[in-house]
Amino acid sequence: MTARAGTALRHGFAQNPTGVCVVTVADGTDVQGVTIGSLVSISLEPPLLGFFVGQERSILGSLLPGTAVTANVLGAGQVALARRMATRGHSAVPAQHLCREGGWALVRRAVASYSGPVERVLPLGDHCLVVVAVEAVRATPGRAPLVFHDSRFTTTQE
Ligand SMILES: Cc1cc2nc3c(=O)[nH]c(=O)nc-3n(C[C@H](O)[C@H](O)[C@H](O)COP(=O)(O)O)c2cc1C
Repeated sequence: MTARAGTALRHGFAQNPTGVCVVTVADGTDVQGVTIGSLVSISLEPPLLGFFVGQERSILGSLLPGTAVTANVLGAGQVALARRMATRGHSAVPAQHLCREGGWALVRRAVASYSGPVERVLPLGDHCLVVVAVEAVRATPGRAPLVFHDSRFTTTQE
């Protein structure tokens, strides 16, 4: 694909509304995180999810097979956290946003959290598909999610 086609793809996908997640990686006492919009359910049996991480993202080196990760779907009121974890050089998740359960690092007040070990990391173009074997799910139905559309944060409820 030419650089021009890549730009067209990016502009086109700006019209594709996505949920907003912070993926957390428990790294000793510290928790690293990154904002992603590419969360996808891959398989129910076995339960697998995936997300795409740019080859240049600083967190990629921590996403090794077996590493405990949690994909936290943010709520409408969590724009500040989404912005912070999308900012270069801010990979540490502030402790006040977190609660630890077992080996997982959950974001407080997330709409849903899916936890498990990284199963594999597949390079695809300038991103990697990170596949996670889901072992724990926590969901809060009825809470308005954060949505990214047309390069802006919004939600599904008026
Ligand atoms: C709404 C939204 C969705 C994003 N989705 C992804 C994604 O799916 N994959 C990705 O690699 N980066 C995604 N990003 C960009 C990263 O969050 C951002 O580039 C990264 O946190 C910058 O840190 P780093 O360059 O130090 O790694 C997204 C950003 C925003 C605001």
